Amino acid sequence: MSEIKIAQNLSELNILAAEKFVSIGNRAIKTNGRFTIALAGGSTPKSLYQLLASDAYKNRIDWTRVFFFFSDERNVLPNDEENNLRMVTENLLKNLQIEEENISRWQTELKDAAENYEKTIREFFELSEGEFPRFDLILLGMGDDGHTASLFPFTKALTETSRIAVENRVEKLDTNRLTLTFRVINNASNIIFLISGAAKAEVLREVLEGKSRGEKLPSQNVKPINGNLFWLIDADSARFLSNASD
Ligand code: 6PG
Repeated sequence: MSEIKIAQNLSELNILAAEKFVSIGNRAIKTNGRFTIALAGGSTPKSLYQLLASDAYKNRIDWTRVFFFFSDERNVLPNDEENNLRMVTENLLKNLQIEEENISRWQTELKDAAENYEKTIREFFELSEGEFPRFDLILLGMGDDGHTASLFPFTKALTETSRIAVENRVEKLDTNRLTLTFRVINNASNIIFLISGAAKAEVLREVLEGKSRGEKLPSQNVKPINGNLFWLIDADSARFLSNASD
């Protein structure tokens, strides 16, 4: 199932996302006793994380049952201001006093951080060879070039079909990034794209209504095999969509 919800502004968008987060999470905890989530980095989700850690939401879910992973990570040390774990810790994890054992981070201090993360995920989900994890929720952002996680246009990781977590060379940023693969993303029970701002409007129109060009617009490759895809977007980013009437 794929659904587009358009909020009037960022604050309304965050409420939409927070409500979806707690409803998916409480359902997962009720069904499986835990809620496994891979979080997005970047700047858009910061205010959502702050809202989830606020009085309005912090008592809406049993955080001791929530297990945090990260959709991608920059190839920098944990204390670097570019590090996604650092951003999520500052805006969410610290305020909720989440226990270490509930957080599975990319160990970017290791040379083989991607292989190490893959091993961490395999062990957590008790996967057999060739099996992929099924996260209850994967939260994604989208860049103005149509990338998501660290799956950038025309990069090698876009066509990875056997790995769970890889290091991906991103020439345009002159860096190697760390990212979950589309096999993992599309195996999730629920995926939320959280997109805000006029800068994303043109690429969002191309991704949702343009020609299918997954290599140029990697976000088009997000198609859950057996799950729900929620596009939670604001009016500014939705302004070029043909039926942006929601
Ligand atoms: C990252 C993210 C990345 C992000 C997009 C959008 O590590 O930066 O995972 O995929 O979601 O680049 O970033 P903004 O929210 O900052 O626009």
